[in-house]
Amino acid sequence: MTDSQRTLTVGLLGLGVVGSGVVQLLRDHAEEIAGRVGARLVVGPVVVRDPDKPREVAAELTTDLSAVVGAEGVDIVVEVMGGIDPARGLLADALAAGQSVVTANKELIATHGAELLAAAQERSVRLEYEAAVAGAIPIIKPMRESLAGDRVRKVLGILNGTTNYILTRMTEEGADLDPVLAEAQDLGYAEKPDPSADVDGHDAAAKAAILASLAFDAEVTRDQVFTEGIRGVTATDIANAERMGYVIKLLGIAEETEGPSGERQIGVRVHPAWVPAEHPLASVREAFNAIFVEAEGAGELMFYGRGAGSLPTASAVVGDVVTAARAHLAGEELPRVAISRKPIRPMDESIVQYYVLLDVVDRAGVLATVAATFGDNDVSIKSVWQEGSDDHAQLLLVTHAAREGNVQACVAALEGLSEVRRVASLMRVEGREV
Ligand SMILES: NC(=O)c1ccc[n+]([C@@H]2O[C@H](COP(=O)([O-])OP(=O)(O)OC[C@H]3O[C@@H](n4cnc5c(N)ncnc54)[C@H](OP(=O)(O)O)[C@@H]3O)[C@@H](O)[C@H]2O)c1
Repeated sequence: MTDSQRTLTVGLLGLGVVGSGVVQLLRDHAEEIAGRVGARLVVGPVVVRDPDKPREVAAELTTDLSAVVGAEGVDIVVEVMGGIDPARGLLADALAAGQSVVTANKELIATHGAELLAAAQERSVRLEYEAAVAGAIPIIKPMRESLAGDRVRKVLGILNGTTNYILTRMTEEGADLDPVLAEAQDLGYAEKPDPSADVDGHDAAAKAAILASLAFDAEVTRDQVFTEGIRGVTATDIANAERMGYVIKLLGIAEETEGPSGERQIGVRVHPAWVPAEHPLASVREAFNAIFVEAEGAGELMFYGRGAGSLPTASAVVGDVVTAARAHLAGEELPRVAISRKPIRPMDESIVQYYVLLDVVDRAGVLATVAATFGDNDVSIKSVWQEGSDDHAQLLLVTHAAREGNVQACVAALEGLSEVRRVASLMRVEGREV
């Protein structure tokens, strides 16, 4: 049989936003893909919940999972149904049956990725998940392959398009969160009625866990990621940041640092942060995603593009299908990848710079009391501004880099002072010191 006559069959689990794009690209780009793989990739059975629903693309629909999972004649399984169950068991079964698997499921990979990768290695088949982090942006393969000879130190990512869209609108219109969130929901960027997966940082946290695992050859799961969303960000915070040359972004941050006894530790966190206006991440607007990587040899790298959407996400999925198909044809043995058990640094041990906004009573000696409270907690103040008077006096403080646990203790102490009406805002600052 010549290469052009060979076919490989791709079965799908799911035909929603991403699945429809995958079928469309596999069909529209069939000739180019056949040339690149050395075989034709044919769309086989597609499992859905409701076969009577109107569809964007035609396909051989079924509700029978066994038509794809473990099915004779289905070489590659594309999982684009989402969620942990039943996807976890289905993918384990497919891998055990010797099928290569491509998935866009960040939730699944961020919680059970190590177990599924082990199952893939056991059968020497592929488990690919480029679309699970930042949609169309190639970041998994660059981290795993192109940077394999380097040592990654830190990864900073704008990993959620919805929150980046919301923060962009708030910044450019001086608006507060609620009206912009409602607009994002109307435009279909944020889920209705519950936008928490995006707004509370859960989606970004799953992606940060996957990036940390890859960057540091470790097993980092979603529940190990410190997560804080954007609900607390106000128009006042954005204006304060802007005055000092910063932009507020929801960042996923993964870094490897030295622990108290010199051991390597991994820190992974998702939270809103002040980013210097001249940093490449500051100019990432609207629903775009970007990942900034700092590596020992390569230096600084930035990956930018669309983090979601039917065809952008499908582009990454189909790229993975091509990888799996080539490996299938080559019959290659997969090398064992060493996964380390590096400890996760507790959030309290992170060293971060902070912006603190306090509503205070306007009387003599307030600043001295506040400054003493910072000093008592080993947090050094870099700059202070006082604004307003009478009922609306505010103190805006920026600290030097300090231990997270000390800042939190300081904030608790500030809240107990009669001079402080409330801690109006508290946000971490990334990049150079203010
Ligand atoms: N949407 C994006 O832009 C994007 C970007 C990156 C990653 N992802 C990831 O890609 C995956 C798919 O997302 P999506 O937006 O395409 O989802 P979606 O539009 O909701 O589509 C899900 C599909 O899976 C099918 N399905 C769900 N549960 C099933 C079950 N138990 N049995 C059989 N079929 C089932 C659904 O069937 P019915 O059609 O019959 O309901 C539907 O066709 C998720 O893991 C998501 O996180 C999405």
